[in-house]
Amino acid sequence: MHSPLWEEMDAFIVEQLLPADPVLDDVQAACEQAGLPAISVSAAQGQMLHIFARMMGARRILEIGTLGGYSTIFLARALPEDGTVVTLEADAHHAAVARANFTRAGLAERIDLRVAPAIETLPLLAAEGAGPFDLIFIDADKPSNPAYLDWALRLSRPGTLIVCDNVVRAGRVLDAESEDASVIGIRRTYEIAGAEPRLTATAVQTVGTKGYDGFALLLVK
Ligand code: SAH
Ligand code: DHB
Ligand code: MG
Repeated sequence: MHSPLWEEMDAFIVEQLLPADPVLDDVQAACEQAGLPAISVSAAQGQMLHIFARMMGARRILEIGTLGGYSTIFLARALPEDGTVVTLEADAHHAAVARANFTRAGLAERIDLRVAPAIETLPLLAAEGAGPFDLIFIDADKPSNPAYLDWALRLSRPGTLIVCDNVVRAGRVLDAESEDASVIGIRRTYEIAGAEPRLTATAVQTVGTKGYDGFALLLVK
């Protein structure tokens, strides 16, 4: 689902409110050049993640699903000097593109990119004592969202914000009979989050250059 009006309004928002950003323009170009799918967050959404991280005073951020590192850069820029983003990516090609982008953005030292299926890395992070994270962005394979939420809770503290992307999917998430594994995973995540006494939860629907979708916002009590 796309609308020229949403695209135009998104462009207006970015032009009015976000600073010109040649580095992020280069990062986007590098992602396109490398043939990565155009499924990163939008600039306006990336700035929202950046603002969330600043609001949390985040020093430790976990991202599940790096792609070319576009969202990672918005998050990393919110950190103090000694802060880190740990970002998890299964695809070696995506990770290589992301790594070059982190260097391009001068953020390589603040970003810890782990290349493996997230379900393997998450227990390693727990064992390392890498948490608790202040903000966790879940944005990888949607069928695994219930497992990722479980790990996010284990790697959190009271006050941690868990943000989960793509929880609307143009309304496809309404279909209780869907056989789409992503829809099933997202629906299950709503059930778990809604029943989880440790969370204060909502979801916000979004439209824009990335179509019609939304973010779940899960605050750990
Ligand atoms: N957060 C990025 C977009 C991520 S797209 C941004 O907004 O810029 C989803 C990413 O998750 C893809 O790069 C995909 O390769 C990765 N992914 C898919 N399955 C995964 C898994 N099991 N573990 C880790 N990453 C995975
Ligand atoms: C897809 C994944 C995403 O994380 C996203 O933001 C949009 C689309 C996808 O796999 O189709
Ligand atoms: Mg996403």
